[in-house]
Amino acid sequence: MTDPVFTLENGYVRYGGGHPDAVSGVTVRLHKGEILGLVGESGCGKSTTARAMLGLVPLNEGHLTLHGAPVGPNDKRLRASVQAIFQNPAASFNPKRSLLDSVAEPLRVRGIKDRRRRALEELDRVGVTEAMAGRRPYEVSGGQAQRAAIARATILRPEVLVCDEPVSALDVSIQAQILELLAELRTEQGLAMLFISHDLGVVASLCDRTAVMYAGKVVEQGAAPDIANRPRHPYSVALQDAVPSLDLADDHVPRVRTRAVTDDVDGRTLPGCRFSALCPFATDECATTPPPLDELSPRHEVACHHPFAPLHH
Ligand SMILES: Nc1ncnc2c1ncn2[C@@H]1O[C@H](COP(=O)(O)OP(=O)(O)OP(=O)(O)O)[C@@H](O)[C@H]1O
Ligand SMILES: [Mg+2]
Repeated sequence: MTDPVFTLENGYVRYGGGHPDAVSGVTVRLHKGEILGLVGESGCGKSTTARAMLGLVPLNEGHLTLHGAPVGPNDKRLRASVQAIFQNPAASFNPKRSLLDSVAEPLRVRGIKDRRRRALEELDRVGVTEAMAGRRPYEVSGGQAQRAAIARATILRPEVLVCDEPVSALDVSIQAQILELLAELRTEQGLAMLFISHDLGVVASLCDRTAVMYAGKVVEQGAAPDIANRPRHPYSVALQDAVPSLDLADDHVPRVRTRAVTDDVDGRTLPGCRFSALCPFATDECATTPPPLDELSPRHEVACHHPFAPLHH
């Protein structure tokens, strides 16, 4: 295993207003040529993790590293090395400018010459024709706009791409094309990627590794096929169970039906495991002691006092 290109180490983000930490002690390590999927229910802290890694929200604790060295949120090296794409590409462009102008903009900022040709070349690489490049963001389809956003993000050859739900707003057929494009960029440019998604099927097919978040913490992390087929944390199993179309390949994994609770419990405020109020396997220990993220097998980490046993085939 090579050293990670870019990491968030033990990050805490507090938005204030008396709310508990949005993310609490999250570590994310991105490796060259690898896509890390980040999954978990709405509000668990996926976008906050992404924003912290982009330097868009301050860390209350923890830090970022680039090639092993700490890097501040406003550091030029972070801007140069780490780029992002988001769910709604059209909204991320200036509505009055052509896609071509927007894609050329990072070149202009850097004082790079020959911008039009280079921007057209980059747009062509992601499948946007010259005719399409002259249009404004709201004059093209969502898929075309996302392609242009990818061109803008990659034109200066960053090392890292942070993708926050980049296909969630697109039609399924278009989603597949964009995912294919991201997979190609990973291979051809050796990009390290963080890929946030609600869609466990997409994550299982695109990503090399998967991290599962619950209530502001990473509860399980491992090779994508292991998380999809052999999850060890009850929350990871419950999350997959909630997707009817996704057949767990292995029916040795017991189903996890979360406990019905009458009050909405905010897991972030619990002293022990944040999933303990909903977990059907929770014991007294779970209610009082937060489980550490332990490496149960090589590069498979689980934060649970009673993880499912590994399966042998
Ligand atoms: N700007 C903000 N100010 C205050 N609280 C916020 C802000 N943004 C997010 N939060 C809170 O932080 C927590 C994590 O939110 P976040 O947007 O990171 O979740 P998410 O996993 O990306 O959810 P989703 O799947 O819905 O996009 C939530 O409790 C949310 O309400
Ligand atoms: Mg989000």
